[in-house]
Amino acid sequence: MNPRVAVYPGSFDPVTLGHLSIIARAKEALETLIVAVVRNPGKDPMFTIEEREEMLHRLVGDCPGIIIESFEGLLIDYVRDKDAKFIVRGLRAVSDFDYEFQMAVQNRRMEPEVDTLFMMTEAEHFYVSSRMVKEIAMLGGDVAHMVPQEVLDELDRKRGIK
Ligand code: PNS
Repeated sequence: MNPRVAVYPGSFDPVTLGHLSIIARAKEALETLIVAVVRNPGKDPMFTIEEREEMLHRLVGDCPGIIIESFEGLLIDYVRDKDAKFIVRGLRAVSDFDYEFQMAVQNRRMEPEVDTLFMMTEAEHFYVSSRMVKEIAMLGGDVAHMVPQEVLDELDRKRGIK
């Protein structure tokens, strides 16, 4: 496993300022950061995988060392396949901890060579989540403090404004 390579997995439905901050900060410690959009048929996403990948490409695709992909199946199989040593996850309030801890433990049980690196979100992103973005945006609220302009435009398109 390559210790300079990490996978940052997520739904990114849509990508938020919190995600972008984690990507920028994690990249400083790594040579290669693979931002991996999960293809999860169980969820009912607002944006298609292609739309989410496209948004990420527009936002961080030009940054050297950042790769954007999607994956399906077990995350740990994908991480192994990429020869990555680390999984990066952002931690917000305490409420994230239980779920994140469970995932980290299960992933480590399946592959002890891979470790999860947790990064605290910036204080201003503590309560930023894709779920809140979708809910507030769809009900006509302002989410400009939670997502970049590119995503605001995409949300407007979904709402039929643009
Ligand atoms: O942004 P999210 O929705 O919090 O990301 C969750 C994600 C993609 C990290 C998680 O659902 C995942 O790893 N899915 C892939 C399937 C898998 O490996 N599940 C077992 C995790 S222990």
